[in-house]
Amino acid sequence: MALWGGRFTGETSQLFKLFNDSLPVDYRMAEQDIIGSISWSRALASVNVLSAQEQHDLEKALNDLLLVVKENPEVVLESDAEDIHSWVEGKLIDAVGDLGKKLHTGRSRNDQVATDLKLWCKQQCEGLDELLGELIAALVALAEREQDTVLPGYTHLQRAQPVTFAHWCLAYVEMFTRDKKRLANAVDLLNTSPLGCGALAGTAYDIDREELAKDLGFARATRNSLDSVSDRDHVLELLSVASISSVHLSRMAEDVIFYNSGEAGFLEMSDNVTSGSSLMPQKKNPDAMELIRGKCGRVVGALTGMMTTMKALPLAYNKDMQEDKEGLFDAVDTWSICLEMAVLCMQGLKTNPERTYQAAQAGYSNATELADYLVAKQIPFREAHHIVGEAVVYAIEQKKPLEDLELAELKQFSDTIEDDVYQHLTIEACLEKRLALGGTSKEQVKAQLAQLKK
Ligand code: ARG
Repeated sequence: MALWGGRFTGETSQLFKLFNDSLPVDYRMAEQDIIGSISWSRALASVNVLSAQEQHDLEKALNDLLLVVKENPEVVLESDAEDIHSWVEGKLIDAVGDLGKKLHTGRSRNDQVATDLKLWCKQQCEGLDELLGELIAALVALAEREQDTVLPGYTHLQRAQPVTFAHWCLAYVEMFTRDKKRLANAVDLLNTSPLGCGALAGTAYDIDREELAKDLGFARATRNSLDSVSDRDHVLELLSVASISSVHLSRMAEDVIFYNSGEAGFLEMSDNVTSGSSLMPQKKNPDAMELIRGKCGRVVGALTGMMTTMKALPLAYNKDMQEDKEGLFDAVDTWSICLEMAVLCMQGLKTNPERTYQAAQAGYSNATELADYLVAKQIPFREAHHIVGEAVVYAIEQKKPLEDLELAELKQFSDTIEDDVYQHLTIEACLEKRLALGGTSKEQVKAQLAQLKK
């Protein structure tokens, strides 16, 4: 039974019903809708719309319903109710008869859906925060283990300067730590209760909305009824946090895919997250990482979709806003499974320190060191840069790394170069010099790890 039959004499088209119904998506808010309804019944009792006995009976029936949906959330889908709000109300009327029809007094589906969705977001954010924490922990453990593994660092996908693999891990720890803060911030902003704002103008019953907000676990009540029922910032914000974090996951995946490639051979992903080819027996494909990279597109797509849906909506509620849930639910599910998968991948990652060391040694990634050496000999950096550039061209012609050039060969480019140059050209020297805060030296990485463990 629809909630709004009285005004209508004509039949609803089947196509319209299919088009309009949101139950197949919003059934996932059953728990939130029931919890919101329990609080609303208490609010109604506080203004004597319901007697204590009536409120008690409603709360009992709602709690029974809560158990039913907790046991099997999909049970809701067996109904042809329009949306989750109609479903809960219908079930309540089935259980307690006419008393159930009193619950919607002073309430609208507009403040109801806004409340349900905020409750849903808050609950999801708890799980997401935990997953981000797990990923950070997995990366920290990897960093801890790989402090001595040298990795060629890249810019423009060209070998630039050596770093350690631990330093690479900690770069992503920084990103996911920011995501965690962004998530907490999003929760902080959405932590206000729209319930009691009615359809748009506020409710006509003298309800203590602050009390109601507390009862629902919100920090406080919203301030403006028009805004309360038309605000979907929390959806946009959660999608935005999900998008940014998915971009981080995708970049991490891209790095791992490259490091795991036959060409690089720096890493090996574990068997439990890779697959083979149906044709080529030698292949071990980094599917998990490719899917993380691919699924990022879906999450960002949901953000773009919702931004576009919201951009020209007049105040207050419009049915367009019903489109908020499908993208949000999918984005949250996707982000969440990607986080979980990333943890599993990171836990099984093996490095090949010989390969990474060799690669870091090749590609003239100690050229900056030679320039710094010249600077220490009072040559201005710009000039030193030019000298080393010429030395690199020469070394390439000779098919040798810089450190294999004879002193006489090096002296062609600057006679300030002496025998002491070689100690500056080792990978160890390159790494150790990056001592300032945030650098890749072992000492810095250790300090960061110690900080993180606190
Ligand atoms: N299913 C609707 C949604 O998700 C609930 C609100 C309906 N409000 C209304 N005035 N028709 O947005």
